[in-house]
Amino acid sequence: MTRTFFDRPDDSSGMDTKPLGTTGESVSELSLGAMYFGSRIDRETSFALLDRYYEAGGRFIDTANIYATWVDGYDEPESEPLVGEWLEERGVREEMTIATKLGFSYGDVPRSLDPALIDEEIAKSRERLGIETIDLLYIHVDDPDTPQVDVMETLAGAVEAGDVRHLGASNVPAWRIARANRIAAEQGWPRFEAVQTRFSYMIPDRDADFAGQLPASDELLDYCDQEDLTVLPYSPTMQGCYDRDDRPIPDGYVRSENRLKMDVVETIAERKGVDGNAVVLAWMLDRDLPTIPVVGVSTMEQLEANLQASEISFTDEERERLNAIESLGFEEWDLRGE
Ligand SMILES: NC(=O)c1ccc[n+]([C@@H]2O[C@H](COP(=O)([O-])OP(=O)(O)OC[C@H]3O[C@@H](n4cnc5c(N)ncnc54)[C@H](OP(=O)(O)O)[C@@H]3O)[C@@H](O)[C@H]2O)c1
Repeated sequence: MTRTFFDRPDDSSGMDTKPLGTTGESVSELSLGAMYFGSRIDRETSFALLDRYYEAGGRFIDTANIYATWVDGYDEPESEPLVGEWLEERGVREEMTIATKLGFSYGDVPRSLDPALIDEEIAKSRERLGIETIDLLYIHVDDPDTPQVDVMETLAGAVEAGDVRHLGASNVPAWRIARANRIAAEQGWPRFEAVQTRFSYMIPDRDADFAGQLPASDELLDYCDQEDLTVLPYSPTMQGCYDRDDRPIPDGYVRSENRLKMDVVETIAERKGVDGNAVVLAWMLDRDLPTIPVVGVSTMEQLEANLQASEISFTDEERERLNAIESLGFEEWDLRGE
């Protein structure tokens, strides 16, 4: 048996899993977002958070080639190298599912899904992560200027070469994902199995602008539901606003429905003695459609609070209250009938 840093006698992980699309594989139901690891969050804290997540049974880490080059003083990607170092130092590469993304601009890399650029960025991410194969590669954003057939062919080539195992799409409209997947099916190429989308319990205004970040829509969630794609909500707690006096409801979300939603979360959190953010994460885990929140934290207390989501279950009454106020992707949109 290979001994790891953690020296666990058995590898029975404490965290439940959810299916990853139609791949036949399952992944941890809470993914750990590494966006600010190595930049805003220093190395020591990042390692401690990764260790604790692992210890709690988490095996699914989310990063991207651009993380987090927009932070002052960090022009170079720091998240991928830090995750790579952690994998190496702890000797746990084989146990972990590593997701990364490409397509947004950083440094002198333009925002594009040009085939040559996809190949280059995959090579750079593998190098930075120190891994042979990226388990899940997302296109981070759509590129209307590159034909989708070229994008899917390039991604298929990367899978064929063993550089990537599975594909996902982030910040891409539902119809474009459906179209790309139809092209892939026609050509016998791998399809997008997972969708990472801006999605929380509160629903944004229709005209809210999140600078390239695309909020979930009924249509997107229904597509994922009917075609068995896993949904991965990012920024799921909207900066922890479900339990922080210093974080009011963010711009783009200030509506009466969301105030009611806040009240419901607060009531349930208080009743259960848990963090409101954990209630929101648990609500995501409770959905019928496989939903894996990508959890962002900067302190151990936040991680502990959010890990509680796996332990929270709702009564029928609580579930009804949570879903009674305008919700995305629920029955009313389901046009299939019984
Ligand atoms: N695909 C995409 O386009 C995209 C976009 C954004 C993010 N992501 C992914 O999603 C991950 C999470 O995104 P995010 O960081 O924006 O998530 P988030 O849930 O909106 O925000 C995380 C932040 O909220 C606060 N927080 C979270 N839980 C808390 C708790 N229990 N108590 C108090 N405060 C709490 C902390 O803020 P402080 O650190 O300020 O205390 C934490 O850093 C990222 O790491 C990344 O992997 C993907």
